[in-house]
Amino acid sequence: MRQSNPPKTYRVKSFGCQMNVYDGERMAEMLGAKGITPAPEGEEADLVVLNTCHIREKAAEKVYSDIGRLKKPDGSKPLIAVAGCVAQAEGEEIMARAPAVSMVVGPQAYHRLPEMIDKAVAGERATDTDMPEDAKFAALPKRRKVGPSAFLTIQEGCDKFCTYCVVPYTRGAEISRPYSELLREAEGLVECGAREITLLGQNVNAWTGEDDKGRDVGMDGLVKALADLPDLQRIRYTTSHPNDMTDGIIAMHGEVDKLMPYLHLPVQSGSDRVLKAMNRSHTADSYLKLLERFRAVRPDIALSGDFIVGFPGESEAEFEETLQLVDAVRYSQAFSFKYSPRPGTPAATMEDQIALEVMDERLQRLQSALNRDQYAFNQASVGKTCDILVERKGKLAGQWLGKSPWLQSVFFEGDSAIGDMVRVELDEAGPNSLKGRVLESATS
Ligand code: 5AD
Ligand code: SF4
Repeated sequence: MRQSNPPKTYRVKSFGCQMNVYDGERMAEMLGAKGITPAPEGEEADLVVLNTCHIREKAAEKVYSDIGRLKKPDGSKPLIAVAGCVAQAEGEEIMARAPAVSMVVGPQAYHRLPEMIDKAVAGERATDTDMPEDAKFAALPKRRKVGPSAFLTIQEGCDKFCTYCVVPYTRGAEISRPYSELLREAEGLVECGAREITLLGQNVNAWTGEDDKGRDVGMDGLVKALADLPDLQRIRYTTSHPNDMTDGIIAMHGEVDKLMPYLHLPVQSGSDRVLKAMNRSHTADSYLKLLERFRAVRPDIALSGDFIVGFPGESEAEFEETLQLVDAVRYSQAFSFKYSPRPGTPAATMEDQIALEVMDERLQRLQSALNRDQYAFNQASVGKTCDILVERKGKLAGQWLGKSPWLQSVFFEGDSAIGDMVRVELDEAGPNSLKGRVLESATS
């Protein structure tokens, strides 16, 4: 590796889940603290961080093709760091195959990126895929600039080992960030303008900690403490595991006004045999009963989930059980994927892998059921009055876009600003969004 000039500009490209978006923001803040500024729109940066996702399909190939395309205006390569879950899973191979990459940094080690940049400038390539407990968050700079809706990682990692999933290998064991550190970060987010905070974790509802009086608290205790922040108006959380749901978490949906009526609870399949082979340790019925308990305390709660079609051995009849579960739940939105064998996971070597055409056909049927329910949910919202948190301008002049309490995208026209909470009547529904009419505008 040759020596290079210290980078003046950076770009962080995040792929995949919301936790990667959060990590990308924190890396950008670190680079900012080092005096490096975001590259102007349309111009390649001196330093590019590819914050990668490994959850599905050809993730590594995509990284190599992205690396191949990166070029500064003078034709030279920027300094390249590969971060995220592909870095964790395939770091050594990336270093061997892509000489243009000077830094590989895993999701638990990115607080060390500034030192790695100094080394890279001096011509030294470095890989850091350590998983030190806790160290990362304490080492990150204070939050400075966020939009009205901000993410806050409270829990990371996974001990569940679903047989199809790489997360336990790339993100490591479950850890909960300390209560006081989270309250401080949340206060900082609100000070810089956040009005909504989404708590993030691979198993966010497994979060545990000790409050300031040394008492054990679960995620419900944390949510209640956050609800006391006067300028914070909305709280959400994602992603939960059915087996980590507690009575307290269910109850808080009926108790905490700032907690939005929305729950993302992946189920993956409606077949008990497939769920067992996935090592999900819940059944379709126990999942449905759990949702009923949420509906009992918060009847208007919007439900969302994740699905995988074509898990090894999934029969047509088993797939139809998934469709039956969808019919029973009536999701407001959901995410569905074709099973993708992930190297190193137990399911990747299971017999009876399902043909791509079969997966395509099942995915299409599942998605048309989910789209039908999403549209029906939006149509059933017409006539409701609710608050919209304004997140950005729409494409048309005078148009704004924000989210309803049920996480629907709502367009409206009128005088507004990003971060406003606007009272609207929902008066037209589309499959993916709604139109609202402003009733009154509150200050942010
Ligand atoms: N193939 C397809 N989808 C997967 N997911 C996780 N691993 C895989 C895989 N190997 C999906 C699950 C999970 C979501 C984040 O991604 O539905 O809930
Ligand atoms: Fe992956 Fe299962 Fe853990 Fe979710 S609970 S991150 S799907 S192993």
